[in-house]
Amino acid sequence: MNWHEIGSIEDIPARGARCVTTPQGRIGVFRTADNEIYAMEDHCPHRGGPLSQGIVHGASVTCPLHNWVFSLETGMALGADEGSVKTMPVQVVDGRILLGFERPLMAAE
Ligand code: FES
Repeated sequence: MNWHEIGSIEDIPARGARCVTTPQGRIGVFRTADNEIYAMEDHCPHRGGPLSQGIVHGASVTCPLHNWVFSLETGMALGADEGSVKTMPVQVVDGRILLGFERPLMAAE
């Protein structure tokens, strides 16, 4: 796993999110009320809504467009909805958020 720092946990409000652009596309990085950090594609499988603009509650996020709910832990849609969002490995080290990429990123990135 190739870990890349994308900012500080302080950059994201509790129960908030931000979007980062990576070589693997736009990734939503979410912070729960318990200060857990999760990362997943910022693209709802329903109609492409920006999940990073959704509402974080518990370990879930509600899409801002049509209110589908996804687990931040698994990326799976919850309730009656179907589909999933690709999650990404993420860890916090000394308050810094690191995203895990399977392949090394190119130097220009
Ligand atoms: S685009 Fe996310 S619920 Fe419709």
